[in-house]
Amino acid sequence: MREGENTGALLHVGRARSSFSGKMGYVLAVAGSAVGLGNIWRFPYLAAKYGGGIFLLVYLILMMTFGYALIVSETALGRMTKKSPVGAFGAFGKGIAFRLGGWINAVIPMLIVPYYSVIGGWVTKYLFEYLKGNTAALADGDYFTGFIGEGFSAELWFLLFSLVVLAVLFAGVKQGVERVSKVMMPVLVILAVFVAGYSMTRPGAFEGVKYFLVPKFEDFSWMTVVAAMGQMFYSLSIAMGILYTYGSYIKEDVDIEKSTNQVEIFDTAIAMLAGLMIIPAVFAFSGGEPETLQAGPSLMFITIPKVFASMGFGTGAGVMFFLLVLLAALTSAISLAESGVSTFEDQLGWNRHKATLLMGGIILAFGSASALGFGVLDFVKILGMSILDFFDFLTNSLLMPVAALATCFLVTRVAGLDRIAKEVEQSSRFRRKGMYCLFMRFLAPVCIAVILLSSIASVLGWISM
Ligand code: TRP
Repeated sequence: MREGENTGALLHVGRARSSFSGKMGYVLAVAGSAVGLGNIWRFPYLAAKYGGGIFLLVYLILMMTFGYALIVSETALGRMTKKSPVGAFGAFGKGIAFRLGGWINAVIPMLIVPYYSVIGGWVTKYLFEYLKGNTAALADGDYFTGFIGEGFSAELWFLLFSLVVLAVLFAGVKQGVERVSKVMMPVLVILAVFVAGYSMTRPGAFEGVKYFLVPKFEDFSWMTVVAAMGQMFYSLSIAMGILYTYGSYIKEDVDIEKSTNQVEIFDTAIAMLAGLMIIPAVFAFSGGEPETLQAGPSLMFITIPKVFASMGFGTGAGVMFFLLVLLAALTSAISLAESGVSTFEDQLGWNRHKATLLMGGIILAFGSASALGFGVLDFVKILGMSILDFFDFLTNSLLMPVAALATCFLVTRVAGLDRIAKEVEQSSRFRRKGMYCLFMRFLAPVCIAVILLSSIASVLGWISM
């Protein structure tokens, strides 16, 4: 196994297994993979759709308990075995269950990156239009639907975005990309604070701030929990093997609990800022009518242009905003695709170019279907969803819970909670050990199972949520 090449997007490539330069290096790497479209595009539209404050509350609770326990588990298992998921599961046993557990973790990023790149294409298109100064046209509510509905144009932007991703993987210049994103991340935060401040102070926006921050229990539904859990996995890059790989690069002195906290705080802060940019704007510009709140994946592309069109320097702000989102999307897409490439290298024994070509084929096939699913292929509905929505649902609501369940079993039934605890305790006291064990042993498997069953039941139309 050429472990040294299996580096995620963040480490230098060499023959020996790489390790992060320091504790901060690890936190930055994980935070870098965590912050992406999930925070800026996905979180706000889910929060708008699934009840605002109540969604936020459920999300926060899940993140601090469930998400926390899973991040600690994946990182500790990676550090213990020094392997990425397929290898880590394989290190504990050779049976079919271990192979399945490892592979399901490894396949998820391969299914996410195609549709992720479609959205990356939309972002690139918007950046291009802002550069041309089309600020007013973009603010028209029908612009976005027209653009994705036309189909081939969205396909072209998707191809452009994925070619950049693949070119970076081919050339192996990942380090450079990562360095750029480390500079860009602080700029993104500052710009987000500024835009959020502007959008929250528009007339009528306060209703939106209230909707987003104050939980109303009558807005609660099972779907809130299902969506919040999927989003938590997605945003923190859990339940898809990534953190096993990262964990395998850290040394024994890294405090796993502390770095988990830092990553969670940073990731959630960015997501909440994005929520404060977008949701108040929905109320200010369209009165918060349920129809707009339900807009789903298109929400960011509909409301943010309205904010920019209404302010001075809107074009400049648009260019900045979409440039930064594009960079966050690119770095995330690169590391998602990289994880697929390294799985092929390690498990099939392929060389990097062959592995990258296969990944490219997967991206083109599933991504094109997702991009065209709003245009020429819009007659294709899978379980009532567009192709892009279907891939999102398949990975986030079905496969990630199964992957998380596999990790729970590996921890409790095979490795044993004590071994995980020992691994964590190498660098510090295991402060939340009680909560951790309770979750891994009882609450997490039960929650996951219930949620999995209810999302299956809901697509089959047995229950409406
Ligand atoms: N967390 C990223 C986001 O919020 C998306 C993502 C999921 C990701 N898994 C990943 C990014 C693995 C890099 C690596 O958009």
